[in-house]
Amino acid sequence: MKIVHVVGARPNFMKLAPVARALSKHAGVTQLIVHTGQHYDEAMSESFFRDLEIAKPDLNLEVGSASHAVQTARIMERFEPVVLQEKPDWVVVYGDVNSTAAAALVCSKLGVRLCHVEAGLRSGDRSMPEEINRLVTDRLADLLLTPSPDGGENLLREGVEPSRIQFVGNVMVDSLLHGLPAARASGFRERLGVMEESYALVTLHRPSNVDIPERLNRICQSLGEIAEHMPVIFPMHPRTRSRLTNMDRSSLGKVTVLEPTPYHGTLDLTASARVVITDSGGLQEETTALGVPCFTLRDNTERPITVTEGTNQLVLDLSKLTELALTSGRTGALSRPKGWDGRAGERVAAALMNGTVQ
Ligand code: UD1
Repeated sequence: MKIVHVVGARPNFMKLAPVARALSKHAGVTQLIVHTGQHYDEAMSESFFRDLEIAKPDLNLEVGSASHAVQTARIMERFEPVVLQEKPDWVVVYGDVNSTAAAALVCSKLGVRLCHVEAGLRSGDRSMPEEINRLVTDRLADLLLTPSPDGGENLLREGVEPSRIQFVGNVMVDSLLHGLPAARASGFRERLGVMEESYALVTLHRPSNVDIPERLNRICQSLGEIAEHMPVIFPMHPRTRSRLTNMDRSSLGKVTVLEPTPYHGTLDLTASARVVITDSGGLQEETTALGVPCFTLRDNTERPITVTEGTNQLVLDLSKLTELALTSGRTGALSRPKGWDGRAGERVAAALMNGTVQ
């Protein structure tokens, strides 16, 4: 059986690693990794392949950054000949980035079977590019593998045939559990000179937060206030850095701004944080898996299980952020949602091997 994995952006890589590892244990499977090149900086891409022990991509489509339409079109144009030449039994796409939706469109037009890992998540907010990518990909996929029960419920409500849907659990948590010992041993947090459970970790990159100067400024003010009381570590996404170059950054005050951190470094910082402030999808899940309080700077989430069963809280009113962060702490007992057990990759591999969907 020949399987082509398509990845392109940072959060895809953590999802690919456990699936590729599980598939490599099945006899008679050939795997090909296609990197679209949506993310291309060493800190956004190669360093993740190293930490996650993923084989080098067999092919890099080198599409780079561009508008959504141009980036999506470039991926489609460059991926189509790969599918025609390789004739895979399955193409596997991950998550909700532009690379995911672009590859899905190519496969469905060529009649090649498509599997979506992390299917069924919905924020209900179509102003998010990721929500459009999720809707398109799930509409087209032949096999939809969900990380949590709400995923299956959303898909059934949208009329997807039940035979195409399978609950496999959360592959991101596989990577987390696999990587945690190496992350702890990396000494990343210690080198920054911050103590266990004494600091806030911040990540921000959503256009809805960083592309609106007044909102970005308001968030920076809060972070500056929090940093008066505890260390604030802020690895900065290139999009955010570029937005801040044209703004007065003085309100950030004592906040420690870093380059984007590698996978193990980020995991080390997350596992030991007193609190995480973010707009990332992955960190909402990782903090729940680790029992770390998380404040998400968004009005909605496609990962409601992190709120109902985990440690995540949406911050709808930014004026509350400083107080929320300063008064939060860990609450003890850790329980992970069903299927967030480190074996989701094996279940994805089994679903692909048994896949009977036409
Ligand atoms: C993309 C995903 C988002 C995901 C995020 C994780 C889409 C629509 N968005 O957002 O869902 O949460 O990745 O990081 O697919 N840039 C660099 N170096 C890089 C990559 C990007 O400098 O290696 C800069 C460029 O200025 C680029 C900007 O970041 O224009 C945005 O990159 P892009 O891939 O379009 O979206 P992200 O904001 O990274």
